[in-house]
Amino acid sequence: MQHGFTFWFTGLSGAGKTTLSKSLAEEFLREGKNVVVLDGDELRSTLSKDLGFSEEDRIEQNRRAANIASILNDQGIHVMAALISPTHEIQTLIKDIIGVNRCFLIHVDCSIEGCQQRDVKQLYANRIKQNEGNFTGIHQPYQDPVNPWLKINTEFSTFEQCKAELLQAIRATFNQ
Ligand SMILES: Nc1ncnc2c1ncn2[C@@H]1O[C@H](COP(=O)(O)OP(=O)(O)O)[C@@H](O)[C@H]1O
Ligand SMILES: [Mg+2]
Repeated sequence: MQHGFTFWFTGLSGAGKTTLSKSLAEEFLREGKNVVVLDGDELRSTLSKDLGFSEEDRIEQNRRAANIASILNDQGIHVMAALISPTHEIQTLIKDIIGVNRCFLIHVDCSIEGCQQRDVKQLYANRIKQNEGNFTGIHQPYQDPVNPWLKINTEFSTFEQCKAELLQAIRATFNQ
């Protein structure tokens, strides 16, 4: 059975977590690897429908996703997780649940100005109002992960460059 690894994409809204994690998953599938994508937004409309954006609820959202990732990894399935995971507490929790040896944190780095300018689906314009004081990077801080496995800057590099960087890092680490 293959070993299951989790690649956990963390960063601000609009930084590129969903885009990069899905394209990496497609690459894995093409290579015949079993992989599941856990996307924060998708979980919020299903499994985590009951949760909001308070600090407590964000911990719970990440706790759930990390436990699913761990179960899947136990069964040899790779996971691409794309969640904001804004605080050191949450980032540590994720690694504790999944296990440091198989959890690879990828900091998808783009400044708040860059994300706002991009404003995918009018997310900043609309959600800032809806979330009432809980928007990461605006009202709540985003704490850059300490020693992430990889930090990818999506602000000054194209998607293709970022994807290539990711694949290269994976090949270098996993020798494949
Ligand atoms: N280098 C890059 N890497 C990833 N996405 C990028 C990059 N440059 C521009 N983008 C764009 O930024 C947006 C990122 O959106 P998304 O992946 O939904 O972000 P998130 O999931 O982090 O909220 C997409 O529209 C994507 O095409
Ligand atoms: Mg997303």
